[in-house]
Amino acid sequence: MSRLRPYFRYFRTVRLEIAAAIFYGILFGAASGLGVPALIKYVFPPIFDRDGGALPLNLVIQIAAAIPLAFLLRAFSGYRNSYFTQLAGVRILEAIRLEYFSKLQRVPLSFLQNRASGDLLSRGLADTSQLQFTLTLLANDGIKQPMQLLGALGFLVAQAFTEQGVGVVLVALAAVPLTVLPVRYVGRKVLKRAAQMQSQLGGVTAQFSENLSAAREVRAFGLEAREESRFAAACRELIVSQMKIVKYAQALTPAIEFISAIGIAATLVFAYVYDVQLQVFAAVVGALYLCYEPIKKLGSLNNELKRGTAALDRLEVVLHEPITIADPADPVPVGRLRGDLAFENITFAYQADAPVLREVSVRIPAGTVCALVGPSGAGKSTFANLVPRFYEAAAGRVTLDGLDLRALRLADLRRNIAVVSQDTILFNDTIYANLLLGRADATQAEVEQAARDAFAHDFIVGLDGGLGYATVVGERGNRLSGGQKQRIALARAFLRNAPILILDEATSALDSDSEAAIQAALKKLMVGKTVLIIAHRFSTIRDATKILVFDGGRIVADGTHAELIAASALYRSLYERQTAA
Ligand SMILES: Nc1ncnc2c1ncn2[C@@H]1O[C@H](COP(=O)(O)OP(=O)(O)OP(=O)(O)O)[C@@H](O)[C@H]1O
Ligand SMILES: [Mg+2]
Repeated sequence: MSRLRPYFRYFRTVRLEIAAAIFYGILFGAASGLGVPALIKYVFPPIFDRDGGALPLNLVIQIAAAIPLAFLLRAFSGYRNSYFTQLAGVRILEAIRLEYFSKLQRVPLSFLQNRASGDLLSRGLADTSQLQFTLTLLANDGIKQPMQLLGALGFLVAQAFTEQGVGVVLVALAAVPLTVLPVRYVGRKVLKRAAQMQSQLGGVTAQFSENLSAAREVRAFGLEAREESRFAAACRELIVSQMKIVKYAQALTPAIEFISAIGIAATLVFAYVYDVQLQVFAAVVGALYLCYEPIKKLGSLNNELKRGTAALDRLEVVLHEPITIADPADPVPVGRLRGDLAFENITFAYQADAPVLREVSVRIPAGTVCALVGPSGAGKSTFANLVPRFYEAAAGRVTLDGLDLRALRLADLRRNIAVVSQDTILFNDTIYANLLLGRADATQAEVEQAARDAFAHDFIVGLDGGLGYATVVGERGNRLSGGQKQRIALARAFLRNAPILILDEATSALDSDSEAAIQAALKKLMVGKTVLIIAHRFSTIRDATKILVFDGGRIVADGTHAELIAASALYRSLYERQTAA
């Protein structure tokens, strides 16, 4: 319960609904816990007790009418209570999901890369749902059931003071706390299993989504049967832990019922010994039954709280993740930057103790076209990714126009950078909307001009029988070819017209024809900008004003093409390998 306390703030936004639910819950408790035994005690005797002479039928009907009235009140208030609780519940779910989702928009990329996206998905959908269920049940039974218990206990206590046979009532009451024992035992068991089950559910979802994203590989490598048996094994494990929860949770009600049966039997014996009247006995047993019901429900609620706690643990892995790459408290206001870039003693590691960049220092003046070359895994992409602060170096600093990147608001920094990478991902929207991501306030003429500059306009207008810019590109842009996607990405960069341009294998998916055309376009795009360009083709690299040669996380040489051919053996061998091929 205390684990959930920080999340009670979600209740604040739904306080009207909760207030209504509580009001009807109290009404329900009174009608049910107090009302039903009172009916048994006061309504039945005048009807069955003929000693006082026959009653007029009218009066009998009036007395009998008290029964449906009491149940109507109980039913109506129970219904309203559930309605408002559910309403509050779905609102809370929405709030939790949004918080989880918006957290995912801001956590460092490295956090996401270390986790299976299917598992994150499962946390966001299944665990939030579990938490909603728990909170709703808490708000629902957490009000109604204790109220009913209080009502029934109140009736019992009142009987103890007013009727003979106090002992009966006391015995009856004594059995009530005993029923709490199985509740505690089962609760502990359920907590452990629930944590296990939710994480297995995450595993199943992760496998599912990985399988879908590797649909082509499954077919190409003939993995259908392997994938099926992997998935079946994960599902089987999930079922085993689901059944373990069922085993414990479902044992609770019978256990409580058995204990209450013993309580009632003992009450019966005492009733005989103390010579209790039938209607008093019946009312006491009725009240007793109405005590056990809430205990049963509160027991299930307890289990549900444990499951909610397990779900919460999984959500908090994300919710409590510190946002290490964030806006500074006191950002330096900047507009358009010049693009004077400097790395000072940068050491960076994805995993502790395995630096991928080591003490890198370099200055790239504004307007430089700077090519990064080096063997695969040398750290070129990592180097480029530090500029938009996709990652953050543990030591050293990167400056832009003399300002530490960490002094700028992220949005300001990133507005000054256009990134085009090897695997362009488009949103499942129209081409036009995807282009507009480059600059939200661009006019239609500007969007089309950018598409022309990137040699994308011609293929776009021919798409989907003339739908052109209104063509929807499919998930991740899968309805377009690799080269088409890259040209869309380049068009976005034209549109953005940022002073810093990062091209990471940006032309790798283009055939030589479009590459030749695009080289011309790129030249135009690069004018006056600071460009970091990573390419394997030396046709692109040769013209750079500055070339950095990376090896094993260090810059081992820099200069122009001519200088490096003369001075760097590594550069020469990379160049020769390429031109020979
Ligand atoms: N997200 C990541 N988590 C952990 N290690 C990573 C991650 N990304 C890259 N690495 C490692 O960092 C090193 C440098 O990777 P990087 O992508 O910067 O190389 P690169 O020079 O761009 O190579 P390529 O030419 O193949 O693109 C590699 O050893 C790689 O295994
Ligand atoms: Mg790379």
